[in-house]
Amino acid sequence: MIRVLGIETSCDETAASVVALDGASAPRILSNVVLSQIAEHAAFGGVVPEIAARAHVEALDGIVEAALADSGTDLRDIDAVAATAGPGLVGGLIVGLMTAKAIAAAAGKPLLAINHLEGHALTARLTDGLAFPYLLLLVSGGHTQIVRVAGVGDYQRWATTIDDALGEAFDKTAKMLGLPYPGGPNVEKAAATGEPTRFAFPRPMKGSAQPDFSFSGLKTAVRQAAHAIAPLTEQDVADVCASFQTAVADALADRVSRALARFKAEFPHEQQPALVVAGGVAANQMIKATLEVLCDKAGFRFVAPPLKLCTDNAAMIAWAGIEHLNAGLEEENAFDFVPRSRWPLDAISTPVVGSGRRGAKA
Ligand code: KG4
Ligand code: ZN
Repeated sequence: MIRVLGIETSCDETAASVVALDGASAPRILSNVVLSQIAEHAAFGGVVPEIAARAHVEALDGIVEAALADSGTDLRDIDAVAATAGPGLVGGLIVGLMTAKAIAAAAGKPLLAINHLEGHALTARLTDGLAFPYLLLLVSGGHTQIVRVAGVGDYQRWATTIDDALGEAFDKTAKMLGLPYPGGPNVEKAAATGEPTRFAFPRPMKGSAQPDFSFSGLKTAVRQAAHAIAPLTEQDVADVCASFQTAVADALADRVSRALARFKAEFPHEQQPALVVAGGVAANQMIKATLEVLCDKAGFRFVAPPLKLCTDNAAMIAWAGIEHLNAGLEEENAFDFVPRSRWPLDAISTPVVGSGRRGAKA
């Protein structure tokens, strides 16, 4: 039996979890505690890094204590401590990784420095026992990527955003329209009573040979349309939201279908190829339905883990830790690991826009 304590603090969720793997049986999430900071950031219309870091400091030890208590596990019975070491907001990463180092050092346990994106990438193996290889679509507030997942540590990014992340586009659209934070769910709610064909918004990158995503042009088009008809009635807001959401789903479908075709070409013998979706935007019903139809047409299985495990959580970090242990991927000098605000999952793909501090933040 392997039991790993996971810690996640890369954005605005303070989370800890214990996951166990017992021989050949399915892994079990023994506890999964997530404290969202949405209320702390709502007044600012987005995550404020300094506020996030301070909130993590205040909450994390209590959250870890709760995760251990919920799991019925004593720290002595834990095999390793896994913490998100990047990418993300550096203040939060420092809090999580330093806490994990302290716990691991005090308890005499190995430390595993985990890439947050790897946590998302491996979640479908925790929830659905999915076998390699498969395709991952990660659509959150910080990331928009398509990744080919072929093994633990074997990731290849096939597409990324060249500007805003998709969740960020939802959040900024909401802010422009005066809808509360977080924008995604509120844009979706308003769109339900809107007219999706009223505004002909662009479908960024649609048909492009470059496989990547772009959302900033769409955001500008939304701003211009809103300015042109200001002041907006409730119906106007609903129409803008519905038109925006339709444009997003359409652009996303184009990008994803390209990736599905590439996957089929690279893995022609794969009996049941699968597309896994992760990230908060996966909660969007229209986007989910669009992806389902695409997968159906292309002969792909569509895997959407429960939303609680699609959005940021520590169970995925603990699970990635277990996968590392099983694959013999323990870091030799994990205690020396310094948090990385930018940390591509795939070291092979060249950055699309600059690199280091000049790279696309998503
Ligand atoms: O994965 P997540 O909880 O956190 C990170 O960004 O790491 O994703 C949050 C993002 C936010 O940008 C939020 O607006 C978006 O997911 N989101 C949605 C919906 N629910 C959350 N976007 C579109 N439709 C939704 N229903
Ligand atoms: Zn995430």
